[in-house]
Amino acid sequence: MKILTVDIPGKSYPVIIGEGNLHRAGEELLKLGFKRCVVITNPVVKGLYGNTLDRPLEENGIKANTLVVPDGEEQKSLENASRLYSQLDGLAVDRTTPILALGGGVIGDLAGFVAATYLRGLPLVQLPTTLVGQVDSSLGGKVAVNYGGLKNRIGTFYQPKLVLSDITTLTTLPRKEFVNGLAEVIKSAVIADKDFFCFLEDNLSQLIDQDPDTLEEVVFRTARIKASIVSKDEYDFGIRHLLNFGHTFGHAIESVSEFKIAHGEAVGIGMVMAAELSLLLGFFSRDDPERLEGLIRRAGLPTKLPPLNKKEIIRVLTQDKKVEGGKLKFVLLGSLGEAFVSEIDNTDAVREIVETS
Ligand SMILES: NC(=O)c1ccc[n+]([C@@H]2O[C@H](COP(=O)([O-])OP(=O)(O)OC[C@H]3O[C@@H](n4cnc5c(N)ncnc54)[C@H](O)[C@@H]3O)[C@@H](O)[C@H]2O)c1
Ligand SMILES: [Zn+2]
Repeated sequence: MKILTVDIPGKSYPVIIGEGNLHRAGEELLKLGFKRCVVITNPVVKGLYGNTLDRPLEENGIKANTLVVPDGEEQKSLENASRLYSQLDGLAVDRTTPILALGGGVIGDLAGFVAATYLRGLPLVQLPTTLVGQVDSSLGGKVAVNYGGLKNRIGTFYQPKLVLSDITTLTTLPRKEFVNGLAEVIKSAVIADKDFFCFLEDNLSQLIDQDPDTLEEVVFRTARIKASIVSKDEYDFGIRHLLNFGHTFGHAIESVSEFKIAHGEAVGIGMVMAAELSLLLGFFSRDDPERLEGLIRRAGLPTKLPPLNKKEIIRVLTQDKKVEGGKLKFVLLGSLGEAFVSEIDNTDAVREIVETS
């Protein structure tokens, strides 16, 4: 088991990562002084881990009610938030009752949004069960629902009291979802930690085989990078932008593919494109994009654009909200493990990257 802290003044919280951690839920809640809780989850995760969580809660005398939201990204809606508010009314919870978000990023974002807003805020505990959840979405306090066809349109920043990541839950994750999460793992390494990048190069097959020690180390090191970045920039005005590496191209690819290309796949391609852009603009050395591309490919992610309308990708990129004063905002690499935000007025370079990818 490994522990780190997200160190935000007045709101710091522990992130506990390890095998079988759901069994610790009861004692960890008691440590925080909670004797009752409401679990929000979906039918898939409830079927797999509902009982695993209920038992330690019961053994520690913690009363739990469970609210279930259907599975899927489209469930991250105001309608579901509203339904959950009514259900919480029915359970007569008060401001000392924590919400436990048991599931992937969809549940984490929706349950977190409900926790942030109901009665002006209930304590939140994240119990992420996907790789994306454990290395990315449960950390840093961004909670949101989708609205008007736009992702994360309504939301806020609301830090949890605890993140308890049970890496054993990842064994039941569909392969595609696991590989999706690997995109965020590789992203974190390449923007902030060259040693970790080399570790991934050396241990990728053990990671893909979900060797528990390797998995624990990887979830811990990735979570530590995110924790360190969000601790310095809670509200995403500065250094937190680095976490968008590969995401500017990635979002354009997702959007032009009408979301047929999964987020992690789009970020895989987007990272290769951002690395090529860094090279073209003279920041990145020649061999490094190949190393990054090699790791992404070995992880099972795509590295080349599939047949999509490239003109449309360029249009989305140049109209993206990252355009400021006619400049395009990109996260670029100086070397492996070192990223920076750059405002580029050379849209020809961006076009060239799309056309040659
Ligand atoms: N708040 C943030 O900072 C942040 C960061 C990244 C992503 N997100 C959000 O997270 C969401 C994506 O999260 P995700 O990738 O975890 O997807 P997800 O929550 O949809 O989970 C993926 C699938 O795996 C299933 N599942 C979950 N745990 C399982 C397990 N242990 N075994 C088997 N199946 C399991 C889910 O039911 C779902 O079908 C998006 O809505 C995205 O916007 C938020
Ligand atoms: Zn992402």
